[in-house]
Order: sequence, then structure tokens, then C-alpha cells
Amino acid sequence: MLTKYCTKGCDAGLLRLKEEIVSTLAPLVGMTTTEVESYLEIPPDPDMGEYAFPCFVLSRRLKKSPKDISADLARQIKPVGLLGKTLSSGPYLNFYVHRPALAAAVLGEALGKGQSYGFLSEGEGQTVLIDYSAPNIAKPFGVGHLRSTVIGSSLYRLYGALGYRVVGINHLGDWGTQFGKLITAFRHWGEEALLEKDPVQYLFQLYVRFHKEAETNPELDDEARQRFRQLEKGDAEAVRIWEHFRELSLEEFRRLYDFMGISFDLYQGESFYNDMLAGTIELAREKGLAKESEGALVADLEPYGLPSCLLQKKDGAALYITRDLSAAIYRYEKYRFSKLLYVVGSEQTLHFKQLFKILELMGFPWAKDCLHVPFGLIRFKEGRMSTREGNVIFLEDVLDRSIGLAGSIIQEKNPDLKDKQTAAHAVGLGAVIFGDLVNDRIKDVEFDWDSVLDFSGETAPYVQYAHARICSILRRAGRDPSPGGDLPQKEEPTFLPSEGDFAEPEEQQLLITMSRFSEQIKRAAVELKPSMLAHYLINLARDFNKFYHACPVLTADEESKNARLMLIQGVRIVLRNGLGLLGIPAPEEM
Ligand code: ARG
Repeated sequence: MLTKYCTKGCDAGLLRLKEEIVSTLAPLVGMTTTEVESYLEIPPDPDMGEYAFPCFVLSRRLKKSPKDISADLARQIKPVGLLGKTLSSGPYLNFYVHRPALAAAVLGEALGKGQSYGFLSEGEGQTVLIDYSAPNIAKPFGVGHLRSTVIGSSLYRLYGALGYRVVGINHLGDWGTQFGKLITAFRHWGEEALLEKDPVQYLFQLYVRFHKEAETNPELDDEARQRFRQLEKGDAEAVRIWEHFRELSLEEFRRLYDFMGISFDLYQGESFYNDMLAGTIELAREKGLAKESEGALVADLEPYGLPSCLLQKKDGAALYITRDLSAAIYRYEKYRFSKLLYVVGSEQTLHFKQLFKILELMGFPWAKDCLHVPFGLIRFKEGRMSTREGNVIFLEDVLDRSIGLAGSIIQEKNPDLKDKQTAAHAVGLGAVIFGDLVNDRIKDVEFDWDSVLDFSGETAPYVQYAHARICSILRRAGRDPSPGGDLPQKEEPTFLPSEGDFAEPEEQQLLITMSRFSEQIKRAAVELKPSMLAHYLINLARDFNKFYHACPVLTADEESKNARLMLIQGVRIVLRNGLGLLGIPAPEEM
């Protein structure tokens, strides 16, 4: 019985091999382990081993040709732990894993840990704050907010999987001059019943109407300014209406987040910082950063190659950036974060450059730990969705649409499925999330329903389908594929991989790919690119499909059958945990 697996963070598939290589190589070549690690590559072809070290980086230091260095080292390095053979190939040193040892370690660990398999503990004791989603009250969830929500919550999960304490913050746009406009509009044309019925949509309509009417009736603008001033002064009536709008909108946002399986540790919108703004402005003045200009306060950033920015308007009102300054200072005081990530569209790049520069000039050394995680635009290929109100989408429409389409595909593919609704939800939601995350974050995305729901494309349904297929094989073999069934069951035959197991190339490839899970989690988190994990999952699903076509499971001889069941159970765990890190459910049937 395979019971020997590490309990926390010490066994991580090929990462362990990597560590073994690094610690063997470092003293032999006179480098630090970090240096060696930075040079290790994953070879393009599995025949070249699992890792390769380019010896030309040593030739100056050792005064020998890369080829000779590689040959010497290959002779010196003996198999140990997960490290099988080490071969010299021209200037490269290629490291090969010992497959039976890997199979025992990885499958034992996967089945032992189940839901937490692949997760590491290197972030323990450190806190990462992630500011994401942040929709604006009275303006519907924009496309940018959808991307921020999906990317941000995946980074949240990825950092959690590295053992960090993660705090997710929703910096709601719940303050600003638009509330003067809304209060004005509501007093002129508002109807309470319509507001209660669909607050986000209705407030948006009021906002649009305000702008239209103000074109011919400029007095409305004056009134809006006055109303906002009342609000800032704490006028009871204005505050009451504002709170009411805020509460109703928040309720609606929460409903959508719940539906998407997303949550936040804190809802701290812009208004949360109102009584800290004076202190922030005072600090900026003390540091000589806030210069008076025609009654307003400006931070002069020109010496740093950035446009100057307004910190306070003539009428005393603070701005978006002032609230962000207060928020950052407050967050550091409270959490002593080692990283503060802002997942916000690339159109705000300048804003964040200015924000971080001012923090640095204020003398905060942690300003360097604040990071803008920008992303490109998303465009819906189908006109109707994108043009309803300019660049506005209604998140609910997108989700309904996706789940509806997923439902019809499932109906067609698997008419006998019992719980079609759960499957349609999982597939529809997954398609939207994966359809976003699979793209390079920075690039603009063209969102096309046919491609995100294509069961054979680079999509959530493709990965989910591989997972469901494995569950079905496991069920037919009489094993329990459900999450509780992750633990090896007593009545299951004992399995210890022998030299002969996993001899087929498709089996080997599948084992190796699944063993790279932790490594991929780490890369995706460190590079802030959930797309890396998305692509990894596609590769794993693809390797599973190749395996499935080449290697029978249920009809194989008893020994191969047991080995293969163990392998696909491990793959299932990785697929499910990996999808989970992207925020996507993995149904057992679909
Ligand atoms: N509400 C803002 C917007 O919709 C995004 C806020 C992002 N977070 C921040 N701390 N600035 O543009």
C-alpha cells in the first residue's frame, strides 16, 4: 500500500526532482542553488529528459568547453532519489527522472492528499493583497470588471495554493461626483419600485438619462454638483439615498459573485477612505509633493517623466487617486503585505504609475511591492452583446447566454444525463471563465461563443470532458470518483509501481505531465499569468486523450489495469484541482 507521502508542501512531483538536481549541481559547479535553478530549462522534447542545464554558462568560469563540462558532470552525477540518469548531450546536461520512483511519489501523494494535492507552502507567513473586480455602483459591471473578477480570483486561488495568506479586496466605485448626478436624477424621475426590481440596471438607466437631459438642461449639472457637495458634507437625506443605492447594488453584485462561485474577504469601496483623505493630503504637503495651483492641489511628477496629477480639486473634493493613496497606506498599516496586486485594465496604467510614484516619494519603502496587473480589452464577437450600451455588457446576460448554450449542447450530446442543469451551469460558467483566462492577459480578447464552447478546442469543456470521462471509467471499475473518494480505499488492490509499469510512451507522457502540476502553479502565480495554468490543463487533457486511445484501462490485464486506474485517478485529481484554481467546476458527468 502506498502510504508514504509527505503531508505538506515537501513533495511536489517534478519540483522535487528539480530541487534534487539543483542541490546536486550547485556545489559541483560553484554556483548558488538560486543561480542553478534560474538556468534549468524544460527541454522541448521529452526524449531529452525532464530538465536540462546549459553548460555554456559555465565555460568562462571553468575555462573549458561546454561540451567537456557537460561530459564531466554527467560522469560525476549518480542517480539519487527521483533522479535517474544524467546524460551529456553536446553543451547540455540532460536529467531524466526515475519513472517508478516518480510514479510512486506522485500517485501516492495525489491519492493521499486529494483536494490539496499540488499545493505548496512556500508562502507561509507572508500576506498578498489582491484588489480586483471593483465595479462601480450605478454603472453596470463592465467588460473590464468581468476580466478583473476572473483574473483576480484566479490569482487569489493561485497564491493561496502557494501557502500565502491572501486577502481579496473589492474596491467598489461607491463614491464620486456620479452620486450627485444619480441623486438628482432619482429626485426628478426616480421610481422606488423600479429601483428595487433591478437596481443595477435601473440606476444605470437613470445615469444615462441624466446625461442626455443635461445636454439641453445644464441646470441639472449644477444641481448634481450641489447634491454631491451635500453628500460630502454628510447631509442626512443625501447620505440616506446614497446608502440605499449602494446597498441595493451590492446585493445584486453579491448575487452574481455567488453565482460565479467568487467571494471577497473585504468589501472596502472608495467611500471607506473618506475620513483618511485629509491626512493623506497633509502628508503629501509635508513631503513637498502637493503644490497649490489655482486653488487646487497638484502632485508635480514631471521630474519623474510622468504627467502631474490632481490630488484635490478647487472645491476641496478629493479624487480617485487620492482615495487610492489612502487605501494603499491603510492596507500596509493593517496587513504588512509582501505584495499588493491591482488587477485593473491596462487603460489605467498611467494612474498606477502615478500612484506608485507618489507612494515612493512619500517615503514608503513598500511602494515597490505594489504592482499593477493590467489586462487588455475583451470584445464580444456578436454585435448584440457588445453594443447594447456602448462598451457595456450585462454580466448576467453573458452568463445566462453561456449556460443556455451549454445546456443545448449537453442535451444533444448526452440526452440521458440526469442532472443536466448542474452540468450546464458548470460548463457554461467554465466556458466564460476559461475563455478569458486562456488568453495572454495583456492582449485584447475576441470572445466568440462557438469557440469557447467547442468541446474539442482549447476550452473549459474540453478539460472538463476529460475529467468526466475519467470519472466514468473509475465508476465502471467500481471505484469512487467523488471528491470523498480521493483517499485510497481499503478494499482497493495494493499498488506499488514496478519497473514494468507505465512502459507505454502515452502512459509515461501522462505521468510526466501530471507531475508538473505544482511547478505550473508556481509559474502561473509568480508570473501573474493564469493562462499558463489554463494551457497546462489543456495539455494534460490532451495527453489523457492520447493515453485513452492507446491504452485500454478496463480490459487490460489485472496489473496494468490497477496501475492505469491509479494513474487516471491522479490525473483526475490534477484536472479538478487545476480547474478549481481557475474558479471552474469539474462535473463528474456532463
Ligand atoms: N472602480 C474602478 C473602475 O471601474 C476600478 C478600481 C480598481 N482598484 C483601485 N484600487 N483603483 O475603473
